[in-house]
Amino acid sequence: MHAPSDTTQMSSKKNLVYFVGAGPGDPELITVKGKRLLDEADVVIYTGSLVPKALVSSLQATVHNSAGLNLDEVFSIIKSSWEKGLNVVRLHTGDPSIYGAINEQIALFREHGIPFKVVPGVSSATASAAALETELTLPEVSQTVIFTRRGGRTPVPEKESLASLASHRATMMIFLSVGMIDDVVQDLVAGGYPEDTPAAVVEKASWPDERQIRGTLANIASLIKEAGITKTAMISVGDVLAQSAPPALSKLYDSEFTHGYRQGSGQS
Ligand SMILES: C[S@@+](CC[C@H](N)C(=O)[O-])C[C@H]1O[C@@H](n2cnc3c(N)ncnc32)[C@H](O)[C@@H]1O
Repeated sequence: MHAPSDTTQMSSKKNLVYFVGAGPGDPELITVKGKRLLDEADVVIYTGSLVPKALVSSLQATVHNSAGLNLDEVFSIIKSSWEKGLNVVRLHTGDPSIYGAINEQIALFREHGIPFKVVPGVSSATASAAALETELTLPEVSQTVIFTRRGGRTPVPEKESLASLASHRATMMIFLSVGMIDDVVQDLVAGGYPEDTPAAVVEKASWPDERQIRGTLANIASLIKEAGITKTAMISVGDVLAQSAPPALSKLYDSEFTHGYRQGSGQS
């Protein structure tokens, strides 16, 4: 068993179990803290389908792939390891709080009195924005980012239908939906996005075989199908994706703008 070094965060009774965000694919996009916890772990359970193998292949820990396990089986490994006083990491893709299915695990931890902590990660949404070299929040274009998905086997509440969200014409990052790209586009246009709204799809953002396709709502579906992209992809939509100068500059670096850290030349 490794000596736990995170003593400030240890329960008086037992070690914490850590949920750790693995990041979107590039093994260097895990946080420093997440990497340390992996290195100190005795037992790691990782989401096999999307977590890069490089993050778990050289660990001293006993490593379990959760891809073939159900919730009870995952929890049983965590609980028995924790009861032995082992350091346990549950490694989730991207950021654990976004479509990470951690809530059902947290409910079991609380029920069984297992102390835990969540360590955030780089989501595939922000990794996709990075790949596209795009700021998702541009002054006077969009100051709002909507993270969402289209309903599939997991339903989406009616009040959050893509069409109703599209009526805001804010920036949208759409997870888990590239396999339904025709329906996605149809919903977005029905909701109010003009067909010439820029759209992009990033497949496997930050992986060595990352691909990105840019277009508009008028042609993105056919471009995606031509490219054969069916999964592990982020759909981004909104005028922030237009590769032109924005209509307004950010106030933060405006020479006339005064804020808590800088005196500007204009009236404050
Ligand atoms: C179950 S969700 C997990 C999301 C994850 N928690 C996150 O924060 O990125 C899986 C979906 O995330 C998106 N995704 C995950 N990794 C991706 C990547 N490297 N590039 C693009 N999209 C990705 C895809 O839409 C995929 O269908």
